[in-house]
Amino acid sequence: MVFAALTAPAVPHDLPAAIDKLRQARKAVILAHYYQSPEIQDVADFIGDSLELSRQAAGTDAEVIVFCGVHFMAETAKILSPDKTVLLPDLEAGCSLADACPADAFAAFRAEHPDHLVVSYINCSAAVKAQSDLICTSSNAVRLVQQLPADRPVLFAPDQNLGRWVARESGRELTLWPGGCIVHETFSEQALLRLKLEHPRAEVIAHPECLPNLLDLADFIGSTSQLLRRAGTSEASTFLVLTEPGILHQMRQRLPQKTFLEVPGQDGCSCNACPYMRLNTLEKLWQCLERMEPAIELDEAIRLKALAPIQRMLELSA
Ligand code: 13P
Ligand code: SF4
Repeated sequence: MVFAALTAPAVPHDLPAAIDKLRQARKAVILAHYYQSPEIQDVADFIGDSLELSRQAAGTDAEVIVFCGVHFMAETAKILSPDKTVLLPDLEAGCSLADACPADAFAAFRAEHPDHLVVSYINCSAAVKAQSDLICTSSNAVRLVQQLPADRPVLFAPDQNLGRWVARESGRELTLWPGGCIVHETFSEQALLRLKLEHPRAEVIAHPECLPNLLDLADFIGSTSQLLRRAGTSEASTFLVLTEPGILHQMRQRLPQKTFLEVPGQDGCSCNACPYMRLNTLEKLWQCLERMEPAIELDEAIRLKALAPIQRMLELSA
């Protein structure tokens, strides 16, 4: 331990410059989700929603992918690019949706519905993806479910809020796995109603992982990228934003003339910051490039089974 502490390089003062140097030396690309901290977004090569990040991970010719997001995202990158080194700055960066859907319990649920097509939200483990017919993200879920054969019942996992919204929008009945996002389930309806009274001309934009009573109050519902685009095309100048506040960094940077307000959580808490996403820091990003770890490793049999429904998604939403 003492030896490691003596030989480990000191944390540089200028972390963005040090990250840039290592990015070039390692031939790495840095992908970041909109829920990352502003400092991480500012050093990333590409910022996107889950679908866009999957496409980047599948198409990059970099030798190393540093995934500033959560575990299922980095795992998806490894499934798509098995020969590349995929680094996640903090391996503990999980997701309440993935955690709420263990592979063995999911297998039992599927066994109870043997005739169902299985559509899984990308926020799940590789072992759950491996048991799915089709993967979706919040930006393509409605469109993909609409394309499924009408004579087959459909099981949707693991987000029941997204599933309810997809069922409503697509007109398809879905059997839902009872999972939820701890971040999006925290928004307070009362706080939103208060903000709407204070800003009567504001547009409410929401991520479909929110609870149905909040979605009923939204003017526009979509994935993080879709919310960002909507903020640009809408005539409104003030927005009440029902998703993780990391996205506000891009909204404010790209649209400085508009106002973006966070909706508080229940009891006024600011627990709408995703505790998993925020485990990644600029220092850990530098450190993982320096040490080339932690890297995502996957069982090849699981990877191949998980790859098929992801590829189907990419083909169907091209
Ligand atoms: P999208 O970026 O695909 O909208 O996903 C949101 C999310 O919760 C990711 O964990
Ligand atoms: Fe998972 Fe919710 Fe965090 Fe997204 S915001 S990573 S769904 S816990």
